[in-house]
Amino acid sequence: MEEYRPGLEGVIAAETSISYLDVEHEEIVIRGYDLLDLARQKTYVEVAALLLEGELPSPEEKERLERRLVEESKVPEKVWEILRLLPPESHGMDRLRTAVSALGNFTPHASEATPEADRKKGWHVLSQVAAIVANLQRIASNLKPRDLQPAMGFVENLLYIITGRPPEEEEIRAFDQLLIAYIEHEMPNSTFTARVIASTLSDLHGALTGAVASLKGPLHGGANEAVMEMFIEAGSPEGLERLIKEKLQRKERIMGFGHRVYMKKMDPRAQLMKETLARLVEKATGNRKAELTNWYETAVRGEEVMRQEKGLFPNLDYYAAPVYYALGIPIELYTPLFFASRTAGLVAHVIEQHAHNRLFRPRVRYTGPRGLKP
Ligand SMILES: CC(C)(COP(=O)(O)OP(=O)(O)OC[C@H]1O[C@@H](n2cnc3c(N)ncnc32)[C@H](O)[C@@H]1OP(=O)(O)O)[C@@H](O)C(=O)NCCC(=O)NCCS
Repeated sequence: MEEYRPGLEGVIAAETSISYLDVEHEEIVIRGYDLLDLARQKTYVEVAALLLEGELPSPEEKERLERRLVEESKVPEKVWEILRLLPPESHGMDRLRTAVSALGNFTPHASEATPEADRKKGWHVLSQVAAIVANLQRIASNLKPRDLQPAMGFVENLLYIITGRPPEEEEIRAFDQLLIAYIEHEMPNSTFTARVIASTLSDLHGALTGAVASLKGPLHGGANEAVMEMFIEAGSPEGLERLIKEKLQRKERIMGFGHRVYMKKMDPRAQLMKETLARLVEKATGNRKAELTNWYETAVRGEEVMRQEKGLFPNLDYYAAPVYYALGIPIELYTPLFFASRTAGLVAHVIEQHAHNRLFRPRVRYTGPRGLKP
């Protein structure tokens, strides 16, 4: 009762069969599978099914889910209207927070907090959140949102809406892997937030709205945007080396490095994204190859400098940032896309919380005065 760990560091907050970070064996376990195996052999929709339904789908079931995600992605016109009322310069995560909250008001049985209702609403909100994120910039520019098309796969649709051009096969694969890398990661702040909210028997949309707010912070999801801005400011491997050393001298944190759980080890997902980036470089030609090679070499140099200077390793956001960039995705969408992907993991956690609920209500160590008289 008396033990206090600031930031709940190392504290076991829940029992779960969804995922586990096995730091010793450098494995991210997702319902018994290694996340990296899933990312190399399966698609985002299959891994989402593993999270929401508990097992990998058959090929027929996978096709059915692809169609379902496209069919259910329609966003109520009134939600688009609400988004149009927001200042176009407000951050993508702030607009997304409002959108997720608004969606709840247009969802049948929104307040029902049972695992069955969560699962049904979960597939629906997963596809709607993705459609909203893909259209965030169009809405901010007063353009009509684009609908997902049944002729394309779910992930392909998103990339197409964002970039406005039909993506190449290897771009779809890279984007799919990027989304899998972000899909679920045990108990980060946003998942904890969602579970805390769900534990009052509040509903899925409420839990997800809180999770968007949590994920926005630069110590959590917001780091990927900061990483790319740092790369652009640096411009080259030499530039990044200089920039990192200057920042460290000023005792600034370098975004994309360090992790509460991995601490002094490389995040396995960063390694995955490093490979994905290398593959995009390999497939590129002409000027694009030169540009991507520069970003790859810049990222690798930053990794080396941080290992030498601080003994710190990259986290997922570090190598995800140049992958997003190589796919032509605007920086403003990096964190919203992280959330779009993570919605699958969050829904799984809300289902689990509602299935085995115990209200979160911890205590404090009081450090204030006593005995004052008004
Ligand atoms: C992720 C993060 C918040 C984890 O923080 P934490 O578990 O609270 O770790 P601490 O803040 O206690 O850091 C431990 C030490 O490493 C240093 N450190 C950690 N991350 C660092 C970073 N990115 N740059 C420079 N130093 C860092 C701290 O200064 C501290 O050093 P000290 O003991 O000499 O003071 C932290 O590493 C960070 O701010 N990283 C940058 C943001 C980021 O990439 N977030 C995405 C996470 S997936």
